[in-house]
Amino acid sequence: MKSEEKLIAKIKKNIIPKHIAIIMDGNGRWAKQRNFPRLKGHKAGVEAVRKIVNSAGHIGIKYLTLYAFSTENWRRPESETKAVLTLIEKTLMLEIKNLAKNNVIVHFIGSKKELSKSFIKKIDTAYQKTKNNTGLNLILAVNYGGRNEIVDAVNSLIASDTKKITIENLSNNLYTNKFPDPDLVIRTSGEIRISNFLIWQSAYSELLFTDTLWPDFSKEEFLKAILVFQKRTRKFGAVK
Ligand code: IPE
Ligand code: IPE
Ligand code: MG
Repeated sequence: MKSEEKLIAKIKKNIIPKHIAIIMDGNGRWAKQRNFPRLKGHKAGVEAVRKIVNSAGHIGIKYLTLYAFSTENWRRPESETKAVLTLIEKTLMLEIKNLAKNNVIVHFIGSKKELSKSFIKKIDTAYQKTKNNTGLNLILAVNYGGRNEIVDAVNSLIASDTKKITIENLSNNLYTNKFPDPDLVIRTSGEIRISNFLIWQSAYSELLFTDTLWPDFSKEEFLKAILVFQKRTRKFGAVK
């Protein structure tokens, strides 16, 4: 048996995390280690995305959120922000047929304000082409920031004359209102922080940090992360 199949066999099918969210970090350092330009690291990162999406669909994960570009990433040189966003747009165009065929539904979370018209068109088309699928919900977080998301939600409640904020009405106004909270949040590259990712939704998520740089993150490591998750005891504040 291949190592991948061995790992799949070890996964308990009745406690598969419904929603896994990943902070895909370390593309720049991966490139630097090889004396490549940073963009080459981002391109290698796309290959890792392809593998993990495939694996998530294969084992029956229902929701996979990928942090691809944060609201704070605009602090990078324009050459890099442009290149990363163009890479995401082009990859989406290239992959959409395949994703549609593989029963994936492609969603977007983030602020559309700063994104180009052509980018928004691609994400809207991707959703339209895949919305009737029934497999993996792939949620791309682009120009996403948790603080912005909460502020946007509060502002839409104010605009609709809501008199009182509740956990429920606030949750219902987040970009993620159609999705369950992540069960497991993974961050690659050895950084131990959240960096404004799903700060409301991850209140009770299991967190897993790995030193692996995102382009090196493999199906095997993804499956091992699920096995680690399955050994955790989730208590949600109660006594177990
Ligand atoms: C993550 O990799 C991708 C984005 C944030 C767009 P980085 O580009 O942050 O890689 P490092 O952290 O510099 O290694
Ligand atoms: C978080 O990574 C954002 C994404 C992976 C898209 P960063 O590399 O931007 O985070 P910091 O700056 O190290 O916190
Ligand atoms: Mg980084």
